[in-house]
Amino acid sequence: MKLITTKQLFASTLLSLPFFASTLLSLPFLAAAVETLPNQEIEQARSIVKSFGSNLKQVLKTSMQTGGPLKALEVCNVQAESIAAKSSFLSSWNVGRTSLKVRNENNLADDWETSVLQQFEKRKEAGEDLKSMEYSEVITSGNKSVYRYMKPIPTAGLCLTCHGTELSNDIQDKVKSLYPKDKAIGFNIGDIRGAFTLQKNQYRVNQ
Ligand code: HEC
Repeated sequence: MKLITTKQLFASTLLSLPFFASTLLSLPFLAAAVETLPNQEIEQARSIVKSFGSNLKQVLKTSMQTGGPLKALEVCNVQAESIAAKSSFLSSWNVGRTSLKVRNENNLADDWETSVLQQFEKRKEAGEDLKSMEYSEVITSGNKSVYRYMKPIPTAGLCLTCHGTELSNDIQDKVKSLYPKDKAIGFNIGDIRGAFTLQKNQYRVNQ
């Protein structure tokens, strides 16, 4: 029988470390069987995101064309909220936008949203198309379940005026005065600018 020395043992442990580490890292995903939303809910979430997204873009485009980006900037921070409120009212879903780098602190991601945004970045790096990317989960505690859904928002050319790497001086000044803690700059076309985030509470009625 061949005995291995401590040194060899140490070396083989070191070699297998990356393997163990990667197994450990993937364990939470394997262990916690994540429940995704029922089909009907997913369909609702998708259609809200679709209309919210195209409304926002439309408002943005029109106000950029008619009033210029400075005016659009003022309009947008008010309009996004009212468009979101309208979508939520129509559907009982709570609709918002968030990002790893927010402009408006009211849009800060919670822990769940942060981990989903990080997951989106990884999936994008691995080559997945943003167009079809989404994530949903049912989070249950007690008799309450929260249905959560997120979909990435890609950075388009239109967005660079206010979120790009080179903002004009007047836009920069305006952004700084409205959002002193702004982090939502430095994006390039195709980057994940943020995500739509939806949630809906479900209560189980005891029978
Ligand atoms: C005219 C300037 C302007 C343009 C163009 C613009 N945005 Fe914004 N964006 C803003 C402002 C201002 C806010 C903060 C809104 C608020 O107060 O809720 C914002 C917020 C956001 C947020 C919410 C998260 C956060 O940072 O607070 C997302 C997501 C976002 N923008 C994506 C986009 C995308 C995608 C485009 C291009 C399709 C775009 N924006 C184009 C000005 C702009």
